Amino acid sequence: MRKYRTVPENLISEQREFAKKVKDINCRSAKEGNVRYAYVLTFGCQQNEADSERIAGMCESMGYTLCKEPDIADLIIVNTCAIREHAEKKALSIIGQFKHLKESKPDMLIGVCGCMVTQEHRKNQIKHSYPYVDFVFGTSSIYRLPGIVFDKLSKNKRIFCPEEAEYLVAEGMPVARESDFRAWVSVMYGCNNFCTYCIVPYVRGRERSRSSEDIVAEVGELVGKGYKDITLLGQNVNSYGKDAPDEHGNTFDFADLLERLDKIDGDYYLRFMTSHPKDASSKLIDVMSRSKHIARQFHLPVQSGSDRVLTRMNRHYDTSKYLGIVDYMRKKIPDVTLTTDIIVGFPGETEEDFNATLDIIEKVRFDMIYSFIYSPRKGTLAAEMEDRIPDEVKKARFERLLELQNSIALEKNLPLVGKVLKVLCDGESKNNPEVFSGRTEGNKIVMFDKDIARKGDFVNLKIVRAETFALYGEAAD
Ligand code: SAH
Ligand code: SF4
Ligand code: F3S
Repeated sequence: MRKYRTVPENLISEQREFAKKVKDINCRSAKEGNVRYAYVLTFGCQQNEADSERIAGMCESMGYTLCKEPDIADLIIVNTCAIREHAEKKALSIIGQFKHLKESKPDMLIGVCGCMVTQEHRKNQIKHSYPYVDFVFGTSSIYRLPGIVFDKLSKNKRIFCPEEAEYLVAEGMPVARESDFRAWVSVMYGCNNFCTYCIVPYVRGRERSRSSEDIVAEVGELVGKGYKDITLLGQNVNSYGKDAPDEHGNTFDFADLLERLDKIDGDYYLRFMTSHPKDASSKLIDVMSRSKHIARQFHLPVQSGSDRVLTRMNRHYDTSKYLGIVDYMRKKIPDVTLTTDIIVGFPGETEEDFNATLDIIEKVRFDMIYSFIYSPRKGTLAAEMEDRIPDEVKKARFERLLELQNSIALEKNLPLVGKVLKVLCDGESKNNPEVFSGRTEGNKIVMFDKDIARKGDFVNLKIVRAETFALYGEAAD
């Protein structure tokens, strides 16, 4: 028997009881003609989006109707991110704007959760500078939301939930998914890697895996319901299972999990993120190459092309190891779509280091890069390093990086013209509501006429035009 570190069932059922109690209160109000609405606002990564879907699910179980505008809400929950200063500023600014709403509607409850407020200094900042925020809970206490709301409704006191002694996996919580054809499935939570720039290990606790049975059941249910694109989530999915060996010390690792999930029948893609290059194994790539459902797409953050910087980042790989993984990947899956993350302006990054980053980008020729200007995070090792790079140098390097990548992305998209690609239709394009957009197996955006497909359906499109960030398609037959 593998031991998974989960929240004890009695604590989960206690929360179900709290949810029922809140629901009773809300149902009484609905009978009097006042339906109670909840609004959940999410910042940050897919992990936070997945958490927000659980938060929304709990809101529904408490008798709230989910809504898309804060103005009509009786309960607002802001799920925050701490990855860069900009993410925190945005969240704080929105929370600031809710002050007026609360003044015009004093019964409204406002809660703040997520990575930003899992940091003590931010929790205190909310306590002292945002007195109209009713409750705050960190990433270890999400499952406690019904109890917190019940407490707040029954005693008129602000609540600042302390972090749990141990960060555990909470199973059996309700979920209200945003989409009925794309879904997130967390396979593990937390991170043990402590890259020196990164706040995540401090705000998400240590790595813990969900049981493979729970994951297989969830993915099976999604495929059964007609979901077509399922992304498995974890900060470092390749650590999956390592915290839960069986009694003989054997692990059921991420590649094993993928192989098992791939056996689920249906017409769907399976994706995963994020892979850490130090743990991306050839076993994983082999499983991908012989799988039926795993999308031929791989996100492998390199962060820098300088070995000196990678060491200072505590990444535990060098560029030659990274390039070795890319070579093996392309040998096994020649048409794989490759993407990466890059940090520009890490402390002490010299011109030579930065040029090495441009070099690796030229060598690998990624389809897409998510690039970030380094942002010091309080409490991380890099924040204490000397040789901070001046803002204007960081910005100039960032621009050079974008210029190079944009030309590569276009060069990689142009040969797709004339090809027929299978695209999952997302409905109206965010940039141009006149047309539909969808994504390919490699997650590239394709725009096309609205009469070709229905939202949530796969459609075969002939690519007729390619730009840096989008392809344009027509009906293939
Ligand atoms: N677990 C994932 C990444 C999570 S954060 C991984 O290891 O790849 C997503 C990306 O944000 C990181 O890959 C990194 O490029 C960027 N990032 C993290 N901390 C940052 C910081 N302090 N400043 C700028 N970018 C950062
Ligand atoms: Fe952050 Fe590194 Fe963990 Fe990714 S692996 S979440 S970058 S500490
Ligand atoms: Fe994600 Fe931001 Fe937290 S990137 S893990 S929401 S710090």
